[in-house]
Amino acid sequence: MLKLAVLGSGSGSNMQSIVDAIEAGTLDAEIKIVLADFPDAKILERAKKHNLKGMYLDCAPFKTKLEGAAEDRLIEILKSEGVDTVVLAGFMRIVKPKLLAAFPNRVLNIHPALLPAFPGVHSWTQALDYGCKVAGVTVHFVDAGTDSGPIIVQKAVPVLEDDTPETLHARIQVQEHIAYPEALRILAKGNYTIEGRRVRIQE
Ligand code: GAR
Repeated sequence: MLKLAVLGSGSGSNMQSIVDAIEAGTLDAEIKIVLADFPDAKILERAKKHNLKGMYLDCAPFKTKLEGAAEDRLIEILKSEGVDTVVLAGFMRIVKPKLLAAFPNRVLNIHPALLPAFPGVHSWTQALDYGCKVAGVTVHFVDAGTDSGPIIVQKAVPVLEDDTPETLHARIQVQEHIAYPEALRILAKGNYTIEGRRVRIQE
């Protein structure tokens, strides 16, 4: 059984999809702790509703990365909770090598684009502005780069003629909520190998 920590910054709908999969018995995992870098993040409310341990992680003085004292504190918390897999679910900070070294090949991220296209922020707007006809979502292992680690699951959605950033993001999010549980099921089963950039999944 996977022992998960979920890190988020916002609404936590991806965490919700993981909770739902666990509660439905389709994902062999338990959420040990939920952490947010904003004290009032909705993800913490959701955690409370499901009786999950929730915690605010003060990441100051940094605004866009998780490093230094906060990173040390986080690693200590994750180890003491017996976490084996770290799930970034809308966590809007760059994680650094120390955390990755503490959980080698066990830090996952979800990104709202078909990587390697459109890393960074507001990827759905980038896809729309670029004129893409297809957009999507990627779940990947985190490496030292930004949105650059080996890909576990990808799902595509069409870009429609009358899409706005909001309608496209909403369509992508529907697939996110399928993709994250799917990626975690692969980890739970352990039926994969990482060969260079390729994650090979044995059915
Ligand atoms: C999701 O769309 C996720 O893909 C995106 O933030 C949103 C969080 O939603 N993540 C990134 O952009 C990471 N670069 P949620 O809080 O409802 O899960």
